[in-house]
Amino acid sequence: MSAQSKATNITLTTLNKMKSQGEKFACLTAYDACFANILSSAGVEVLLVGDSLGMVLQGHDSTLPVTMDDMVYHMQCVKRGNSGSLLMADLPFMSYASEVQTLENAASLMRAGANVVKLEGGAWIANTTRLLAERGIPVCAHMGLTPQSVNRIGGFHVQGRDTNQAQLIIEEAQMLQEAGANVLLLECVPSKLAEAVTDALEIPVIGIGAGPHTTGQIMVLHDVLGVSPITPKFVKNFLQDSKDGIPGAIRDYVAAVKDQSFPAPEHTFN
Ligand code: KIV
Repeated sequence: MSAQSKATNITLTTLNKMKSQGEKFACLTAYDACFANILSSAGVEVLLVGDSLGMVLQGHDSTLPVTMDDMVYHMQCVKRGNSGSLLMADLPFMSYASEVQTLENAASLMRAGANVVKLEGGAWIANTTRLLAERGIPVCAHMGLTPQSVNRIGGFHVQGRDTNQAQLIIEEAQMLQEAGANVLLLECVPSKLAEAVTDALEIPVIGIGAGPHTTGQIMVLHDVLGVSPITPKFVKNFLQDSKDGIPGAIRDYVAAVKDQSFPAPEHTFN
């Protein structure tokens, strides 16, 4: 696959422009300085300090135990290693339950180096999204499978399979865009629903387990490198065929997102 150039000064404007020009962008989770540097040097446009760190770094069986201190620490590490990617960070479980908490915690992530904060939910996070947007904090709304609600959902299952649920996801995504969300992330939804949401919104949509039609793709770093204990259907190990170790695997991932060979039908829910 073709060599990618380093990500340079990626902003929300870059992502919007890529959506309007029909270009795909690549995102990965990052949790430390060393990998942040490898990823941004390989051309990954967006690095997410995800609360998935609770599972892949800390060994928990969900993201719920992750604290704000954990998030700020890993955000600071990633900021030091980054060279040009847009940095996004998760507000962890229960860190945006009240207005005061939301503002304090989002500010801590921004001070630690985040350019965008991500929070999970549908219509119920519209007011929180507006609160942040009005105060100059860019928001990525995470819909579909929302891992912080795993106990309510009853497991890590595909969302939006029935028509009513799919329609609700489209309407709530529009509501969040109107409330000021700058990016939407869709996790584990059927490909056709992700396509409908991407077409219905002006803002870029990032997908994971959401098929090939979203503006960007994201994966958990440990999944791309084949070191996660479980391998969901939407995961591809890019390290096993890499000719240049980890940097080569990341460049291959970026190239596959851009030429749309990833995600392939076998990684997609229909
Ligand atoms: O926390 C995380 O890593 C995420 C990704 C799965 C998108 O939210």
